[in-house]
Amino acid sequence: MQILHFRAAGVSVIIECPSDALPAILHWGPDLGVLDDESLAHLAAELRPRPDMTVDVPVRTPLVPEARTGWMGMPGLSGHHQGQNWSPAFTSVTYRQTGQTLTATARDEHARLTLTIIIELDHSGLLRARADLRNQHELPYTLDTLNLAFPVPGTPTELLDQAGRWAKERIPQRRPLTVGTHLRENRRGRTGADAATVLLAGTSDLGFQRGEAWGLHVGFSGNHRHYAERTSTGRTMLGGGELLLPGEIILPTGETYRTPWLYATYGRGLDQAARRFHDHLRARPSHPSSPRPIVLNTWEAVYFDHDLDRLLDLADRAARVGVERFVLDDGWFTGRRDDRSGLGDWYVDPDVWPDGLHPLVNRVRELGMQFGLWLEPEMINPDSGLARAHPGWILQTGDRLPPPARHQQVLDLSNPDAYSFIKERLLALISEYDLDFIKWDHNRDLVDAGSTIRVGRASVHAQTHAVYRLLDEIRAKHPRLEIESCSGGGGRVDLGILQRTDRVWASDCIDPAERRQIMRWTGQLLPLELIGSHIGADRSHTTGRRHDLPFRAATAFFGHYGIEWNLTTLADGELDDLAAWLALHKQHRHLLHTGALVRIDDCPENVQAHGVVAADATEAIYEIAMLDRPSTWPPGRVRLPGLDPSTVYSVRPLMPVTAHGAAPAWMDGGFALPGSALAVSGIAVPPLFPDESVLVHVIATSRT
Ligand code: DGJ
Repeated sequence: MQILHFRAAGVSVIIECPSDALPAILHWGPDLGVLDDESLAHLAAELRPRPDMTVDVPVRTPLVPEARTGWMGMPGLSGHHQGQNWSPAFTSVTYRQTGQTLTATARDEHARLTLTIIIELDHSGLLRARADLRNQHELPYTLDTLNLAFPVPGTPTELLDQAGRWAKERIPQRRPLTVGTHLRENRRGRTGADAATVLLAGTSDLGFQRGEAWGLHVGFSGNHRHYAERTSTGRTMLGGGELLLPGEIILPTGETYRTPWLYATYGRGLDQAARRFHDHLRARPSHPSSPRPIVLNTWEAVYFDHDLDRLLDLADRAARVGVERFVLDDGWFTGRRDDRSGLGDWYVDPDVWPDGLHPLVNRVRELGMQFGLWLEPEMINPDSGLARAHPGWILQTGDRLPPPARHQQVLDLSNPDAYSFIKERLLALISEYDLDFIKWDHNRDLVDAGSTIRVGRASVHAQTHAVYRLLDEIRAKHPRLEIESCSGGGGRVDLGILQRTDRVWASDCIDPAERRQIMRWTGQLLPLELIGSHIGADRSHTTGRRHDLPFRAATAFFGHYGIEWNLTTLADGELDDLAAWLALHKQHRHLLHTGALVRIDDCPENVQAHGVVAADATEAIYEIAMLDRPSTWPPGRVRLPGLDPSTVYSVRPLMPVTAHGAAPAWMDGGFALPGSALAVSGIAVPPLFPDESVLVHVIATSRT
């Protein structure tokens, strides 16, 4: 039997490829070094499962685990031909290998099903896999589930994933990994503010820089599941896939269902596990490569109150402080004076904009800025011309409409007429205003989402793929157009949507005390240049808390920078202060958007620190923030990891900061230490008040 050994960036994957059974991963984790055929055979024999009192033969755990082998855990494939063939047996398998990509084509001769699994290890050490299931039986095949599962070696003891809600996304949650299943199912019809995002199994000492972690991400924007399973026989599996609603996929003869990509990352510490996603994304040909333009988004500045003179004033001030992209948010289209009406009527409202958006767009362009527009293409208000003309275009089932959410319903994009209408509208707007950017929003969950053309059958799968197709078609026609994935803030953050968008709006919460947590954990999946991160008003609109500009600006600094603030209320001095922050960001965005994210372990009480280290480790910027008053004083030291141990670095504040007590030596200038010392002994945290932070600039001066 063929045994393959893939290696990249410190990761090894050993895959067993029998001709009479599905491929199984025998090892996924740290690099095992070069192994000749004999060593590989010995290792495989050692890693193969032993009989474990379930059945008399060892129970393998292939990528699609099969119950017929005696596997008692979550099955990979579950479905049937009108009650028959409910326990699949893929016993005839052929393999094709291209580089570090393996394609296994497997047949269940009895059920007349073909399963094709692709598994690949990329340059970053990120493993990904997906499967196609084809029905060749004369009976239709009802597919309930097609999960892929990755065995985790050793005995990780902890689970770490994420939860959240609107305006408080990506809350980490950690628990012991015990026998049983930790199941995160999503039925929202969108990725969800409470998405698991990355489900990690880790060692008990797991931190950002230490311990070991194996993580899984399902790259899909519709219903999906992640699970971690520990069996009583001591196996640990991370699995997942699309979550199908009852009867959602019934494959006629000759038809194929495809799973989303599942991404599996291994890391010595959470940062390394995250970095594999970042490196994978950064290697995409479509990854944004131009400097990330500083955005002004009008939402929290004016909400629905669209007044041309005020918006022109806002644009003037935006340009004055250094904004490069002006985005007109919700409120510009017909009948949209609040959030109760108008969705679907994607025509500029002549009552508010008698000359169209042109006066604003022209001014924005004259000022040298790009122009972007907010849209929510998948949604429809019952109070809209579109809903009155086409009530049947609303996703629904039975003889009822789903309960409204934010007064809106969901447009059935699997309906070709609805799809064509929306596509035509989007293309017309993009052309008329030569849009540089779309903020693509999606503000409600899909409830009772039955297709209008498939007589009420569950349609989240079809809807999600229709949205993907729409995005793909628009991008193909307008390759320069950038798109932001927003879903009531950070409700659609996944690698499926990110195949066709250029950044995410991580949250509607801009309060820096909360936003920094949201950014920190969004970073477990996405590099900073893909995470929209704005400076809001001094008093947060979502929490009512107040923060000074330096804390707001330093928090937002680590992302795709922007402003969401009514600049027309600012005095000249305040505009100048803001302009200085934007200028500073422009000076350093290349580093921030290409370097390695480091989140720092073991900070003193109530201190949080993170940073970005240049790819060649010649420079870094860290932020040390005081979140609350510590119980001991002075507040201890912070390590600066990620630097080259044998390079000497100068260390100084990037922006002047007032210390409330004796400032540490490094703040006075002329301070230099080798990377080895900075990583181990670190630097002293300055005496800061709560909600203050310091940006630390570290530059290589010489090698030791
Ligand atoms: C939700 C988004 O997250 C906000 O930023 C804003 O665009 C509103 N929708 C507009 O309705």
